[in-house]
Formats: sequence, structure tokens, C-alpha cells
Amino acid sequence: MRVVFIGPPGVGKGTQAQRLAARHGVVKISTGDVLREAVRQGTPLGVRAKAFMDAGALVPDDVVVGMLAERLQAGDTQKGYLLDGFPRTIVQAEALERLMAGRGEQLDRVVAFGADPEVIVERLSGRRSCPGCGKVYHTRFDPSPRANACGACGEALMQRQDDREDTIRKRLLVYNEETTPLLAFYRNRGLLAQIDGTASIDEVADQVEKVLRAPESV
Ligand code: AP5
Repeated sequence: MRVVFIGPPGVGKGTQAQRLAARHGVVKISTGDVLREAVRQGTPLGVRAKAFMDAGALVPDDVVVGMLAERLQAGDTQKGYLLDGFPRTIVQAEALERLMAGRGEQLDRVVAFGADPEVIVERLSGRRSCPGCGKVYHTRFDPSPRANACGACGEALMQRQDDREDTIRKRLLVYNEETTPLLAFYRNRGLLAQIDGTASIDEVADQVEKVLRAPESV
């Protein structure tokens, strides 16, 4: 299985990617997670990326494409992979095609999630993430069983720096301008499946499974 998840910030890509990857035994690669880890460790990549991320802007294409190319070389991508938040521009999508062609691979599906901006702001303002294992919760919609701590590994939960309302609105603008052209790009290749991200987590998961099973519903 080689799948891409596209959608505005906070629509639930990471939540669904976490579930789908576990269920199908494929690795989830989130460029946002890789970048946040680089920032946390203070690597040269992290230092370069931080200002873009804090401002709600995209990290330059050459940086993320290089990062993804390196990540795909790891042995855990042999059985398939789920790309969460990559590509986000046409330049990245074309680079992914070249990378995959070089590996003799093709995408099976591109799942695009949609939701209204107000739903997104509500989801992101209640999001809490585990800095240890990366698990994502929501104070209201998906609370951790342990107050302020991760139910899986026990670390204290954190709120992301870019989940402030003004930065969320900037990220939405960037999504509309730079990422939505990918919908036509993948529709033209017969790969796109659009689903409603406003339903409950379980209902969205069912929709994802359905479109992955039914290529004719593009
Ligand atoms: P990234 O980390 O990828 O952020 P994003 O795309 O903005 O997406 P989010 O992680 O904010 O949201 P999500 O859709 O995964 O939602 P989640 O499942 O957490 O990127 C961060 C930054 O890194 C970017 O701004 C950019 O600077 C840089 N970057 C990353 N990739 C890049 C690239 N390719 N090119 C350039 N720059 C790049 O859900 C949100 C909340 O809602 C959670 O609390 C969850 O519990 C809850 N929730 C989820 N689903 C539901 C539901 N159905 N009902 C109710 N609540 C729900």
C-alpha cells in the first residue's frame, strides 16, 4: 500500500494515518513530525525549518524533498508507506513521482480530506500531542485516559507552537494557495478520492477504508 493523505491543517490526517498504518502494517511518514523532531534536536535542518513552521508557512521544497528521499531509503518502507502531509506543492508532487519511479513504485491512492475552517480551528485549539511517542489526542473529541499525560507512554502532553489561532488561519491560507492545486493534479491521474473530514473519527476511518478498497469511487 502506497498512499498519500492531503488536507488542510487539523482536518485529521495524522489521526487517520496513525490508525491506518497500524491496521495495515505499513509505516506512516509525516513530514511535519520529522521536521518537529529536527527542531527539537536543534539539527541544522531543524534550525532552518523552525522559522517557517512557527510562521505557518511551508518549509522550502528542496528541504522537504531531500528529507523525504532520505526517509524513504529506510528498510521499513519496503512493505509500503503512508505519506501524511507530503506532497504539499506541485513541485513536491513531481519530485515524489520521480522518486517513486526510480524505486519502480506507483501510488495506489491519494485521499483528500475536507472540513470547514471553523471545525478546523476547534480541532486544533483542543489538540494535545505526546512528545514521546507522537500520539495525538483532543481534549474533547479524543481525550487521553490519563489527565494531561499520554495514555500510551505516560509523557506529559503538549500543545503545538503553531496551534495558535492566528497561525492556524495563516496555515489555512497557505493550504488553499499552495496545496489545493494538487487536487486537480491527482484527479487527472485518476488517483484522487475526496472524503468528508467533519464526521467522527470512527466514521472518517470507515470512509478511508472504503475508498482504499474501491478504486472506482474516485
Ligand atoms: P503538519 O504537522 O503536517 O501539520 P498540518 O498539515 O498543518 O496538519 P496537522 O498535523 O496540524 O493536522 P492533521 O490533519 O494531522 O490533524 P490531526 O489528526 O492532528 O505540518 C506542520 C508544519 O510543518 C507545516 O505548517 C509546515 O511548516 C511544515 N511542513 C510539513 N510538511 C511539509 C511539506 N510537505 N512541505 C513544506 N512544509 C511542510 O487532528 C487535529 C485534532 O483534531 C486532534 O486533536 C485530533 O484528536 C482531532 N481530530 C482528528 N480527527 C477528528 C474527528 N474526525 N473528529 C473530531 N476530532 C478529530
